[in-house]
Amino acid sequence: MNCEFDKIVDRRGSGAIMTDCLKERYGREDLLALWVADMYFETPAPVREALEKRLSHQVYGYSMAPESYWQSILDWERATNNWEIDRSHLCFIPGIVRGIAFVLQCFTQPGDKVVVQPPVYMPFLNLPLANSRELVYNPLVFNETTGTYRMDLENLEEVCRQERPKVLILSNPHNPAGIVWPKEDLAAVATICRRHGVLVISDEIHADMPLFGNVHHPFPTLSDDAAAVSITFAAPSKTFNIAGIVSSFCVVPDPDLRKRFFGYLEANELNAPMFLSTVATEAAFTRCDGWRRAMLAYVEGNVDFVCNYLAERIPGIVAVRPQASFLIWLDCRGLGLGHDALIDLFVNRARLALNDGEAFGPGGEGHMRLNVGAPRAMVAEAMARLESAVKQLKG
Ligand SMILES: Cc1ncc(COP(=O)(O)O)c(C=O)c1O
Repeated sequence: MNCEFDKIVDRRGSGAIMTDCLKERYGREDLLALWVADMYFETPAPVREALEKRLSHQVYGYSMAPESYWQSILDWERATNNWEIDRSHLCFIPGIVRGIAFVLQCFTQPGDKVVVQPPVYMPFLNLPLANSRELVYNPLVFNETTGTYRMDLENLEEVCRQERPKVLILSNPHNPAGIVWPKEDLAAVATICRRHGVLVISDEIHADMPLFGNVHHPFPTLSDDAAAVSITFAAPSKTFNIAGIVSSFCVVPDPDLRKRFFGYLEANELNAPMFLSTVATEAAFTRCDGWRRAMLAYVEGNVDFVCNYLAERIPGIVAVRPQASFLIWLDCRGLGLGHDALIDLFVNRARLALNDGEAFGPGGEGHMRLNVGAPRAMVAEAMARLESAVKQLKG
């Protein structure tokens, strides 16, 4: 029986980066696009209805963020992530990537060092460099036997001691590999960073999408150290497919960090939500938990489908099974192709637009990122195209 997530929504012509930038990015348009991290599913009806209701008013003037908006965030985090947030620790942010840039600008100087743990979400690498900060790597360690990654805590301590970085940017859960970090590891990161005076940016945009019974741990809840050293970002944007609305928030428990960061945001008027952000966020957080659960169950089905398909029919590609979110990190090293040949296989032979693993930094070579926030039929079509392209390669 079909469900709402089986519905094929044609996003072409809507200005979606996913579908409408293919020529520019991949050199051709006849591709099945499963790259950008937003979903093909319709935004949940209560969010659309709330937006339509607000837009049906004749005036779109300056608007205040109602108290019910802030309350919806506090209630959501308590119920979803067992996270009790003090209202005074909470502030609006116009997008998480921008939020990370604001932290870098507020707390560091050109030339300062920033630790990242590749392979990781591309802006973690690009933002510091574009702001004339220096990158320091603490690469994730891949365990070939278990097929999962872990953070290298010993090396992190060493990197902090030797390089004296000012900031660490953490993807919690991790994009692209979908890792829900063990709480012991997060607590260890906090201890190390506090010992060395490193500020932790915890990017938790994927937090509300744990899969297969995994439990997300908000960074500042882990220990006094974690609360003292961190600025945490979260948002409804990925979970409810409203990334284009631009609505996110940050939580800063430490009074000194908060004074400095909230002061910076206030001074530059970066903390004022646009009215559609508050409307969409409140509707998502108060009326869409059932939709979220159903969506995650569907995504789990897609993940199982892809993992089984690859294991049975395309042995040169192994899926790193995600513990959260709708992205699958594909280890294609078994195909034995160089970078250009791998891209040619996906784009020109399989006619698929996925993310090139190399963009995620060291350790991303030989990998591709697949978005499975899509109807099963699209995911199945992607697998069939890939299988046939790989067979032709060998034949
Ligand atoms: C880890 C991570 N952070 C941030 C973002 C984007 O956040 P925003 O659109 O709020 O800047 C993404 C989107 O893919 C992401 O995966």
